[in-house]
Amino acid sequence: MSAFPFADRPRLFGVAVSHYQVEGDDECDWTDWEAAGRTKGGACGRAAGAWQRYEEDAALAAGLGANAFRFSVSWSRVEPKRGLFDEVALARYRRFVERLVSLGLEPVVTLHHYTHPRWFHEETPWTAPSSVDAFARFARKTARALAPHVRLFIPFNEPLVLLLGGFLDGQIPPGLADPRAAARALDHLFAAHAETAAVLREEAPGAAVGVAHNMMDFAPDRPGHPLDALLARHARRLYNTAFLEAFATGRWNLWIPPFTRLKGRRDALPGSLDFVGVNYYSRLHVRFPAATRVLTGFAYRDRQGRGLTDNGWEIVPESFGALLGDAGRLGLPVLVTENGLADGADALRPAFLESHFAALAAAEAAGVPVAGYLHWSLLDNFEWLDGYGPKFGLFAVDPDTLERRARPSAAVFRALSKSFLRLSLPEGHAQNSVHI
Ligand code: BGC
Repeated sequence: MSAFPFADRPRLFGVAVSHYQVEGDDECDWTDWEAAGRTKGGACGRAAGAWQRYEEDAALAAGLGANAFRFSVSWSRVEPKRGLFDEVALARYRRFVERLVSLGLEPVVTLHHYTHPRWFHEETPWTAPSSVDAFARFARKTARALAPHVRLFIPFNEPLVLLLGGFLDGQIPPGLADPRAAARALDHLFAAHAETAAVLREEAPGAAVGVAHNMMDFAPDRPGHPLDALLARHARRLYNTAFLEAFATGRWNLWIPPFTRLKGRRDALPGSLDFVGVNYYSRLHVRFPAATRVLTGFAYRDRQGRGLTDNGWEIVPESFGALLGDAGRLGLPVLVTENGLADGADALRPAFLESHFAALAAAEAAGVPVAGYLHWSLLDNFEWLDGYGPKFGLFAVDPDTLERRARPSAAVFRALSKSFLRLSLPEGHAQNSVHI
């Protein structure tokens, strides 16, 4: 049984990064995707150089008043050839985890954040049952290396986005647009989550297992238009709750208009989640009929007058609150695993932080069991299809020297950490106590 939220650390406050987006020089399927010209933003290259600078980055997070740090493990570094595990890479992650713990930062470890080892799509693709064993074996190896120091694991970041982008839209590896392949891949992703949860419970008894689920709001593009409204309602349910509920019921039946239905059942799923992770960014406006599928006929609009982020996303804290409510209905602790914006000038970030924290507090007051908040991101990083354009960091990263420089909003974040963590701390509890 997981004891999350932990008695010695009832709330988490911190930052999130992912391996490929910050580490640099990681050779994997995404590197090939870039080389094949499938992205708009060019090559990732050395990213933010975090592979050499993780310890420094941990100190930056601690300086922000954080008590948690979410990162992901690169499967391609750990298992560069099928069945061949790189102990040096595992030891490097272990050193990082030890550093986090020594700074009073709770490590939140994601095992899959979009990328795959080069061999994966050929040898054990998500469309094949062998993918489940392959992933669980990698999870076991990693957990064995890190478990004594890690109490929070997230097998998959945004499995629904991986499914839509990788198997229905062809935008990310493996680049398929094939409903039958999507149906098989989804079944195996769910199976891999359940199997990995079982493995983690063996290797890290007492650890909590979650999913980082991307949640989006949907609104009618033509306000008041009944068909747009219908489509928005359907999309909201499909994208957010229908997918999440599968973890609780073991069944899914997802209709992706107009022609795709993904239906299935995995009895090992119920009980495989200890917390729900929410990645929240924005809201989409949908128009009937959707060009091909519900998620392709959409647009971002500045309906609230708060401005659009550098990559054109609408800022809607109200949607954040509402979606936290949806996530809370699973009856599990809710951890915000990502929330943030691309804002190189740092003009919108201070108000974004304030308004999203107000929404978080309101959701909590309304009964959502909020266990913490992790901001995306600590650093400017490599943004998948868009390269280095969008700047999500509380710290800017100099592209030449890789030097980190705090943006003014880092101070706003630090101030919020104090109020957020104090809110629930028992008397005399040391805020940054180390738990091992
Ligand atoms: C992903 C991150 C990404 C962020 C901003 C999230 O959906 O998990 O990897 O950088 O969105 O686009």
